Amino acid sequence: MGSGLRSTTAVAVLAVILGIFLFSLSAAAPSWRRRRVRSQAERSNNRLGMTPPMGWNSWNHFQCNINEQVIKETADFVASSRLSSLGYNYINIDDCWAEMNRDSKGNLVANAVTFPSGIKSLADYVHSKGLRIGIYGDAGTKTCSLKMPGSHGYEEQDAKKYAAWGIDYLKYDNCNNNEIGPKERYSKMSKALLASGRKIFYSLCEWGQDDPATWAFKIGNSWRTTGDIKDEWESVVSLADQNNKWAKYARPGGWNDPDMLEVGNGGMTNEEYRSHFSLWALMKAPLLIGCDVRSMSNMTLEILSNTEVIAVNQDELGVQGKKVKSKGGLEVWAGPIKGKKVVVLLWNRGVFQASITAHWSDIGLQSSTIVKVRDLWKHYTIPNVKGELTAAVDSHACKMYVLTPQKQ
Ligand code: GLA
Repeated sequence: MGSGLRSTTAVAVLAVILGIFLFSLSAAAPSWRRRRVRSQAERSNNRLGMTPPMGWNSWNHFQCNINEQVIKETADFVASSRLSSLGYNYINIDDCWAEMNRDSKGNLVANAVTFPSGIKSLADYVHSKGLRIGIYGDAGTKTCSLKMPGSHGYEEQDAKKYAAWGIDYLKYDNCNNNEIGPKERYSKMSKALLASGRKIFYSLCEWGQDDPATWAFKIGNSWRTTGDIKDEWESVVSLADQNNKWAKYARPGGWNDPDMLEVGNGGMTNEEYRSHFSLWALMKAPLLIGCDVRSMSNMTLEILSNTEVIAVNQDELGVQGKKVKSKGGLEVWAGPIKGKKVVVLLWNRGVFQASITAHWSDIGLQSSTIVKVRDLWKHYTIPNVKGELTAAVDSHACKMYVLTPQKQ
């Protein structure tokens, strides 16, 4: 046997042994770990989004009233406040940043009046603050505001342009697209981004119309599961329920997206915003701030800066917490987090204060398990809790806890 053949045989044997080892590892692992091993093999792409993205987006507060000054001042604030160190690092421009028409070579061009310095210069500025920059496009012929061209037929050219500008995140919308199905449209841009030479987080904004949770992991890093959020309590309630349906599809590298945060925009009470933020964190949703951070209240900043709630969202297991019990608007939501811990949310959707109980059987714990309970909003710990957890919860408020099993 020649030495070349011998080494080829040795490599083949080693590969088989490694394969058997990996297979037995994944078969013996709990389901969330199996899902994770499988997910790394399935994903096509960029290895971004191993935890849900965090940052800011212009749409919920500014809609089309954006300009480079707003983006720069937002980046200044995020970089100089504690928001950046908490993980809010994407500064994302939504619709209305471009001219109505492409240039003579077919390139997208920044609006000359509102973004006179151009996107490259803005990206350099945002990067100089240690932050990343996101942009918005559309899988049809025009964006939703009808103020910009869509990328249909220009996927590669636009992806290359984004890469050349230094873009780190693309939100890709779904308007004016009657011609081809969503999988095809969204895959085209996925391939174009992967071929662009830059790692770009790919956020599919398909509004959940064709159940993207079931197919988008292979091509993107997050996918909208719902229509647009409104700065109203009923909207938060409805979006939480819609997003909950797809819980099992979320995992490191690909997340269900029930739309961006409204915290601080004025349409809800602080308790309601606290519930909104807690639910989004527990559901492993992208945490994209949607208010004007330059003028937000201390209370808004406090809600958005809760490190213990953010830690749940950014937990490395990446398992989406879900609704486990619901009766007359009194709900228990829960999910596993690293270290055999369990996050529990007691949520009162009703109009009166009420007592809500999570039994250990509701949240996947053995009835004999003794836990330490950490209150993530009041920041205190209760030792030796057994069997159930009960709290009085105000109307539209929630209590959020991490339960750590004690050694017995
Ligand atoms: C759609 C999206 C929104 C926003 C607007 C912009 O409605 O779902 O999030 O991007 O378009 O026009």
